[in-house]
Amino acid sequence: MTSGLEGVVAAETVLSHVDGENGRLIIRGRELDDIAGKISFEEVCALLWEGLAEPDLPERDLREVLGTARVAVWPLAQKVFALCRETPALSLIEGLRLGLSALSDQDKLPHHLLVTAMVPVMTAGLIRIRQGLEPVAPDEALSHAADFLAMMTARPPKRLQAHALDTYLSAVCDHGLNASTFTARVIASTQAGMISSVIGGLCALKGPLHGGAPGPVLDMLDEIGDEKGIRPWLERQLDQGERLMGFGHRIYKVRDPRADVLKGAVRLLSGDDSNRIALAEKVEQVALEVLAERKPGRRLETNVEFYTALLLEALAIPREAFTPVFAIGRTAGWVAHVLEQEKVGRIIRPSSVYIGPEPLAA
Ligand code: COA
Repeated sequence: MTSGLEGVVAAETVLSHVDGENGRLIIRGRELDDIAGKISFEEVCALLWEGLAEPDLPERDLREVLGTARVAVWPLAQKVFALCRETPALSLIEGLRLGLSALSDQDKLPHHLLVTAMVPVMTAGLIRIRQGLEPVAPDEALSHAADFLAMMTARPPKRLQAHALDTYLSAVCDHGLNASTFTARVIASTQAGMISSVIGGLCALKGPLHGGAPGPVLDMLDEIGDEKGIRPWLERQLDQGERLMGFGHRIYKVRDPRADVLKGAVRLLSGDDSNRIALAEKVEQVALEVLAERKPGRRLETNVEFYTALLLEALAIPREAFTPVFAIGRTAGWVAHVLEQEKVGRIIRPSSVYIGPEPLAA
């Protein structure tokens, strides 16, 4: 038995397939390259939710319905913002968890729309509160990505910025039976409902081994400083038994296909002469060399978090908000998996092997 359940098949799904040997990610019959940055995030949601969510909406209507849902959750979000202001020790993701927890199973709006709307509204408002600013109300006329940036900065984003975030949200929308999606499905299998299942997914995403690596990727670039510092810094990290953030993956044994989609998006946003990207590319190249030398046979490649870090930084999203912003995109997948699991209608209940002591004989 392996402690990480590698290779254990725990669900059948029509939603996504991660081909780790060939570096492919298929979302409902489409290659990732064909959707991320090519169709809108709303269209990706429509693709994932098709035939599972009620009502079944095409992309254009979904954009409108999600806009309405963001406006609908705003009054509740404001109440949670007040609580967060009084509790400064709460991290951003803890504040987001609180916002989702304030949603009620009794709410009349479809619950998959409520959770999808609440994540960007809470995240943008919490970022502003951290900066000593007032949260900004959603604008239902904007796309999900553009409205998040508008709520965060209090001004309409540039087209390229909205496009870059939209590409990111689509690139991370779903990814097989990762830890947070599995968590959401387990909760859904108990018939606890959409809201509880998505909160569970968010709690799993909070851990640094799942959704928390892009912040440390930027810390690494800051500490390295310039090109000549790269190899000594990376060697020192590994000497101390530390991992290099943004590298390695349980499933991908070749380059994570999302890394290149995001690299393309960040280049489009920042231009070819960005020093930060030039340094990052050099760090990536040396890190791959060092990992191959120091961990031969482990096949450690660049993962999604490396270029996520650069993209979110170029959008001036604070590091503390990286995991909540990941959740904006991943909510689309959690929702689809919860709906799919609810249709299965059977509780997920594996077994364990008892290795504790036997009771003493009387
Ligand atoms: N840097 C250095 N070594 C790494 C590494 C990394 N980023 N990722 C894995 N390894 C090494 C491990 O130390 C281990 O070496 P060993 O066999 O000599 O002990 C070997 O590779 C296998 O690692 P393992 O922990 O079994 O892999 P996993 O499938 O459980 O872990 C991750 C996958 C993603 C958790 C892991 O690669 C990691 O911690 N990466 C850094 C964090 C990160 O980028 N997370 C975002 C993931 S999208």
